[in-house]
Amino acid sequence: MKLQTLEDLLVHQIQDILSAEHQVKKALPRMAKAAGSDKLRKAFKNHQKDTDAQIERLEKAFKLMQESASASHCQAAEGLIAEDEDYLDGDGNRDVLDAGINSAAGRFEHYEIAAYGSAIALARQLNQNEVASLLEESLEEERTADMKLTSIAKNGANDAAMKAGR
Ligand SMILES: [Fe+2]
Ligand SMILES: [Fe+2]
Repeated sequence: MKLQTLEDLLVHQIQDILSAEHQVKKALPRMAKAAGSDKLRKAFKNHQKDTDAQIERLEKAFKLMQESASASHCQAAEGLIAEDEDYLDGDGNRDVLDAGINSAAGRFEHYEIAAYGSAIALARQLNQNEVASLLEESLEEERTADMKLTSIAKNGANDAAMKAGR
């Protein structure tokens, strides 16, 4: 895609986010399946629902911009998910692997938070306020998911992993 204007850049960024969401939608069921902790599994299952809603919002954003919904392969998402593979198929103590999956998921959330944050700033600058509002709803879900992962790591999952090391 030729990037001539900031509008083009916004479309390109939303295409990238759509790709990231599609990739994580595929990964989340595997993450839920691999997780030993019920809390972690539940967090991933909830985030699957968030992700479906986020994909719908991105599709709406394309409509508002009169663009067809298409994804542009997100290399960062691919890399972040590839790092998670070590823990999903990993050999080792289940609690330690869970702490690894939690941290990989946290990295993914931070990537999404950054991606939505910059697309929102761009949309506001371009007066695409409806697009910005849609993206803000998703940003809020990403933040909530990230906080949930942090609280799981603090309350339990990582304690269990510490015990495994003793
Ligand atoms: Fe997401
Ligand atoms: Fe997310």
